[in-house]
Order: sequence, then C-alpha cells, then structure tokens
Amino acid sequence: VIDPEVEATLWMEITNHSAPQIEEMRALAYKSWTANRDGVLKFRQQLEEYKASVMNTILTQNNTKPGQQVRYSLNRDALANITSEIFDFLPKESPFSKVRFPKCSVVGGSGILVNSKCGEGIDGADFIFRCNLPDLKGFEMDVGRKSNLTTLNTISIIAKRYNFMQTMSDSKKFIRNLQGFHGYLWMPLLGLKSGLSYSMRVARLLHQSKDIPNLKLIIGNPEHFAAVQDFWRTKFLSTRISTGLYVVTLALSLCDETNLYGFWPFSRDLNLRPLKYHYYDDLDGPLSVHSLTEEFSTMLMMHKDGLLRMHLDQCT
Ligand code: CTP
Repeated sequence: VIDPEVEATLWMEITNHSAPQIEEMRALAYKSWTANRDGVLKFRQQLEEYKASVMNTILTQNNTKPGQQVRYSLNRDALANITSEIFDFLPKESPFSKVRFPKCSVVGGSGILVNSKCGEGIDGADFIFRCNLPDLKGFEMDVGRKSNLTTLNTISIIAKRYNFMQTMSDSKKFIRNLQGFHGYLWMPLLGLKSGLSYSMRVARLLHQSKDIPNLKLIIGNPEHFAAVQDFWRTKFLSTRISTGLYVVTLALSLCDETNLYGFWPFSRDLNLRPLKYHYYDDLDGPLSVHSLTEEFSTMLMMHKDGLLRMHLDQCT
C-alpha cells in the first residue's frame, strides 16, 4: 500500500492534478453520466460567435475561388494562393453542412486504450473520428475497426512514420496503411507555410491514388482552425490546440452525444499503473507544442457539465 502523501506527490508530478482531483476523476470514471443537450447547443452558439461554425470546417469549391489568397491557420501573417490544382482537390459542398449524428466516438492516441476493450463501444457510434492515422490492425478489441473521419497531420506523420515518403516503398506503405480507413481523410494543407510544398506532394498522391476508394480527401479550412483556436484562447488555453481538441470541437458541432476515448496524456492510469504514451507505438511522450494537461482538465470539466463523455478506464 502506497503512503497517501507519496501518492499525492506522485499524482501531482504525473498529472498536475491533486489527490482529491484524482479521487474525483475515479468517481467520474464509474459514475453514470447525463447528457446536457442545452449545454451542447449553447456551446455551438459560442463557436458560431467566434466564426467557428461547422459550415466552414473544410475548404469547398463553394467557399473558395481559384486565385484567392487565404491565411495559413498557424502563420496568420502569411498568405497562400488557392491554385487551380488545390481548387480541384475540393468538393463542391461540405458534407457536414447538413448532417448531424446522434452519437459519435472521438478516439485519441493514449496508451490508456491498451487492454481497454473499448473497441465495441467505439464502433457502436454513428460516426467515428480518429486522430493522426493511428494503427487499427491488431488493436481492434481495444480501439475498434471503423472510422468515418481521420486526421492526417502531414508533416509530423509522414516525416516520422513514412520517412518523408522519399522512396516508392515509403509511399506504398503509406497507401497500404490508409486502406484500413473509411470516410474522410482530413488534411490541414494550409497549416504552416513551410509545410505547403511537402503537404501538396501528399495531397497529390492521395488525390490520384486508385488504391484508396473508401477514402475521400478533405482539406481543413485554415480560417476555421484559427477560429477554433481563438475560441479556446478565451477559455484560457493559450498554446496551440492539439489535433485531438480540434476534432473534439468539431464533434461537438456535429454530434448530439460525443464520447471520448484515448484522451489521457499521463504516464500512469487511475490505478497508478505505467502506460505507453500512444497505444500503437513506443513514443516516450508528447513531442508536441500543446498543453495537453490543460486541455485534459478542460475536457474533464465539460464531462462534468454533460457536454461530452470521457471514458477514463476500461470499458468492461
Ligand atoms: N492524446 C491524449 N493523450 C495521449 C496521447 C494523445 O490525450 N497520451 C490526444 C491529444 O489530444 C492528441 C490526440 O490524442 O492531439 C492525438 O494524439 P497524437 O497523434 O499524439 O497527437 P499530437 O501529436 O499531440 O497532435 P498534433 O497533430 O496536434 O501535433
């Protein structure tokens, strides 16, 4: 049995949460959860006020013109040109302008999913969001096999996992791994100016490939990302929001009930057992520029308020 004082210090070091907060989290993990539909509608209204409406989530041929200049979402001073090639990548209309889903799953990459048996719960939703092209094969029991929208943060993923796609065999491996996904592949093509030419290479490959008929490329609207970022700044999240929080925000706009799995950016679980950072690789910890602990606390508050439901433990 661990000394309570030692435990409290350990918790603070690992999660930046105090022992009573952890106790509360444990209670929340097992307590029944009640959806707050009015709260979700109010949240959507607030997003609209920040011009983060779901209508503008992606670039379409209706909301852009060839030759138009748009600001990069992360380099707001720099302008990108919507070339005719980029325009050709875009659908006429946003597939999200009219649809709403009763129940969604949003799956983060945390090692908390290992042995979670959450696959069935995740796949039981009407629409499933996944972040950053994670591995599904071999993890189906814990993370499920279905996907409807998956993000592809080109620079980090292609560089780290596909060797900058320098060779034909890197590209083939990339396309092969994409074959396990369905629905939309969301790319932030106009995120960073320095990443454009590289992201264009990937977008071309995706646009031309005949081997991924189940996936449709969609390009994130940089104005929407920036608006969502501005919105979260007002909630005291000052660093760049993570892909996970962006996708959660999108889900709240599209889904009556939003269920989160794999959002746990800590090195131990609720019972202090050590965890991998990602369920699917051996990365030691976040390489990123985000404040995942603050994001986590914010999402936990939203769980308490019934805006979304976090799954913090095993699903059985
Ligand atoms: N995540 C989490 N806890 C972890 C790992 C990931 O809460 N241990 C969430 C984060 O919100 C993260 C998302 O799951 O954005 C996807 O994980 P990852 O691919 O690691 O994302 P990042 O590299 O942080 O995201 P970005 O693309 O924004 O840099």
